[in-house]
Amino acid sequence: MAKQLWNKGFEPDKAIENFTVGQDRELDLRLARYDVLGSMAHITMLQEIGLLTREELDRLLPALEDILSTIEKGEFVIEEGVEDVHSQVEFMLTSKLGDIGKKIHSGRSRNDQVLVDLKLFFREELRNISEAIGRLFAILQRLSEEHKDKLMPGYTHLQVAMPSSFGLWFGAYAESLTDDMQLINAAYRIANQNPLGSAAGYGSSFPLDREMTTDLLGFDRPHYNVVAAQMSRGKTERAVAMAVATVASTLGHLAMDVCMWMCNNFGFISFPDELTTGSSIMPHKKNPDVFEIMRGKCNRLQALPNELTILTTNLPLGYNRDLQLMKDIVFPATTELIECLDMAGYMLEHIQVKDNILDDPRYDYIFTVEDVNRLVLEGMPFRDAYREVGMAVQEKRYKPTREVHHTHLGSIGNPANDKIAEKMESLMDEIIGEK
Ligand code: ARG
Repeated sequence: MAKQLWNKGFEPDKAIENFTVGQDRELDLRLARYDVLGSMAHITMLQEIGLLTREELDRLLPALEDILSTIEKGEFVIEEGVEDVHSQVEFMLTSKLGDIGKKIHSGRSRNDQVLVDLKLFFREELRNISEAIGRLFAILQRLSEEHKDKLMPGYTHLQVAMPSSFGLWFGAYAESLTDDMQLINAAYRIANQNPLGSAAGYGSSFPLDREMTTDLLGFDRPHYNVVAAQMSRGKTERAVAMAVATVASTLGHLAMDVCMWMCNNFGFISFPDELTTGSSIMPHKKNPDVFEIMRGKCNRLQALPNELTILTTNLPLGYNRDLQLMKDIVFPATTELIECLDMAGYMLEHIQVKDNILDDPRYDYIFTVEDVNRLVLEGMPFRDAYREVGMAVQEKRYKPTREVHHTHLGSIGNPANDKIAEKMESLMDEIIGEK
């Protein structure tokens, strides 16, 4: 006997089932926990509005608790022939409780069920991403302080430009992550709205108490308009994707820097041998494969908003099955981002930073601006000082003083890591503080 919730007495074609179910049986496992929590809130509300008796609720809730513990133990499976997590949970309830189990779907549809599952899942996943960002942020800040006084070349146009420092370099990525957190928080706020009660996308004639399920599930507020609630499928994913993509762009950029600074021609940083990879032909090689894979993954993650946009552009209003395919794209992406953030932290914990890089005469000209500024402080107008140093360079008689005095806010001598930490803390509070 076919196990579709919508079964009306005929056996659906197996090929059609496989094609339409796709990867749902695996992917929906990640929604299982939220599906049960959503059902608990829904039936608690159904009892409140008189669609379930107290006795029925008292039998249903423990049965759902049991399913939840099966999920938590990692023993929950979506059986062959069962379409998705929503069907599996309902089948488990009906096989245990008979007719009472069949009552829980009043006033809802799988369309708002999957929506509420996804919102809860994204909320959790965005918190997990924030925590991973927080871990990397702490490492970057610590490295910035530790290597505060180690100078390195700063480049413009990839030409040697002005003195920079490892303190600035590490600290820059820490602060850049605070901007990414703004997008994470925005995605979180979009996800943190309750679609439950929108049913198939047009509401229900039952007097559903949507404020109640909103409170029970800890959402900020409902998606009020039922059509808007259904429209939020796709919109929420795109917001999450944009947040993921911006973090990925920061991390991809960092990975590129590492590959470059590790290049023998720069040689600014290195890693212990066991964290590098070798070549099958060149015996001397110590390659930065970790950061190349990271760069590649982060570049791929930046395609996410595009992929989702193309998948969802110009869909008709209301539920369309195409929406299911977003799970295939977004679910692996959030996991991959967290893996990349943690791997970056793991590697950076072991980074070796070269001392006295700027003593090398190839960086002599990096001090020209310092010397111009020194003349200005001695009373020479800037343009005259610029010309004097410029002529010395031109006539190959320039000798750098190698003195670097940067003291203003955010500069080599004052990277403002404490201010950056405060900024991150308040952004983290918005999302982690909620827990
Ligand atoms: N697996 C489906 C999805 O992710 C669940 C909702 C099915 N709804 C439907 N009307 N067929 O979209």
